[in-house]
Amino acid sequence: MTMSVAMTVNGKTVSGNVEARTLLVQFLRETLGMTGTHVGCDTSQCGACVVHVDGVSVKSCTILAVQADGSKVTTIEGLAESPEKLHPMQEAFRENHGLQCGFCTPGMVMSAIDLVKRHNYAVTEEIVRHGLEGNLCRCTGYHNIVKSILAGAQAMKAAGV
Ligand code: FES
Ligand code: FES
Repeated sequence: MTMSVAMTVNGKTVSGNVEARTLLVQFLRETLGMTGTHVGCDTSQCGACVVHVDGVSVKSCTILAVQADGSKVTTIEGLAESPEKLHPMQEAFRENHGLQCGFCTPGMVMSAIDLVKRHNYAVTEEIVRHGLEGNLCRCTGYHNIVKSILAGAQAMKAAGV
């Protein structure tokens, strides 16, 4: 069965016809061509697919596109003001070498921003490590990711975002 969906993605209204079983991540990647959101597993474990739905981080492989109908979705593509001006959390990952292959990075950044906001910018190493339990990285050993998120939290606070 095909159903129509409409939502705001990164500030733009988008719509499409999808199979009822289409996952949000499939809609983003395959219908909209926004491939910044990654698929790393089939089991809701890796967190590579995290986006924000109405401001809250969500694994986009765990919800259907039709469940996001009418929502505001933000993906990694929607964070930077411009190619020259990254979101403070993206910049912090770059500065602190928070990535190697980069496959997990979109999900890490999206989860990190929500985590920081939920804690009103006051994150500690323990909070960050605990908060990242749903995001897997095969490359970095997490040390620089944690460092990036702590730096990103400060930069977000300073920038008021
Ligand atoms: S692709 Fe969604 S959690 Fe792995
Ligand atoms: S940087 Fe390679 S999986 Fe995380």
